[in-house]
Amino acid sequence: MGLLDGKVAIITGAGGGIGRAEALLFAREGARVVVNDVGGARDGAGSSEGMARAVADEITAAGGTAVANFDSVATAEGAAGILKTALDAFGRVDILVNNAGILRDKTLLKMDESLWDSVIAVHLKGTFLCTQAVAKQLIAQGGGGRIVNTTSVSGMLGNFGQANYAAAKAGIYGFTRTAAIELQKHRITVNALAPVAKTRMTEDLPMFQTGMDSLTPEHIAPAALFLGSDLCGDRTGNVLAVTGSQMFAYKVVQTPGKFKDEGAAWTAQEIADHWDAITKV
Ligand code: NAI
Repeated sequence: MGLLDGKVAIITGAGGGIGRAEALLFAREGARVVVNDVGGARDGAGSSEGMARAVADEITAAGGTAVANFDSVATAEGAAGILKTALDAFGRVDILVNNAGILRDKTLLKMDESLWDSVIAVHLKGTFLCTQAVAKQLIAQGGGGRIVNTTSVSGMLGNFGQANYAAAKAGIYGFTRTAAIELQKHRITVNALAPVAKTRMTEDLPMFQTGMDSLTPEHIAPAALFLGSDLCGDRTGNVLAVTGSQMFAYKVVQTPGKFKDEGAAWTAQEIADHWDAITKV
């Protein structure tokens, strides 16, 4: 018995890194998997069928069931094509993992419009397009299903040199919260992962130059499996973070704050004077 027996899962950007580990684990747990990957470089340049095909072949060779798809998540036609691959091969879909991503780092003052647009398009727009396409299908099937998005510490806390990526990943957080609220009545849970792992996206970061090889995609995949399986129950709108063997959650908190006299507006000087009390958690 696998946790995903009878389920059909779409995993975007599953031709390498974290998505590949998720696809292999989902298939081992009995899911029939659509391995999507556009097969480009880390910065999104180019495309090829090899990456998705290799992972689908790996799953099949291990006795699992998978089909490859090469569409880009960043266009409506691509999202529709990914869903169509699932429906043509398996007749339904149950789980979507929005994992595809690219990196085009530059500091804010050096960032140009194309670096901004391309990163927002793959991460944020791609998550929207694939979620909308799959959610409509889940509802047409009678409701129920699981969406797992991929955010980042960069989006949750900020990171030097990643204004485009952080904005996209913070957008995925807001999108996850809202989609969770809107899709709850259809019994569709929407949660997000915030992974840290050594992949081609991160291998040149200083932390991975100094022996953090133990932070692997295989540490991340079980968290995606949890959020994509019925073990997740009705938990929705959460951000589950995984860094190697550390598992934690990101939460946005509202401080209790401070009231002035009933109805009275704060002056700027009063905000300065009471800053600590206003912002204390
Ligand atoms: P990766 O570069 O190995 O995987 C991303 C995959 O997405 C690649 O195989 C790429 O070809 C594919 N892809 C890119 N654009 C696509 C498109 N338009 N359509 C379909 N596929 C596309 O990197 P990694 O690390 O496995 O990243 C997976 C996800 O995890 C990304 O969303 C990334 O932002 C996120 N993440 C990773 C962290 C890490 O420490 N590795 C940290 C925080 C978030």
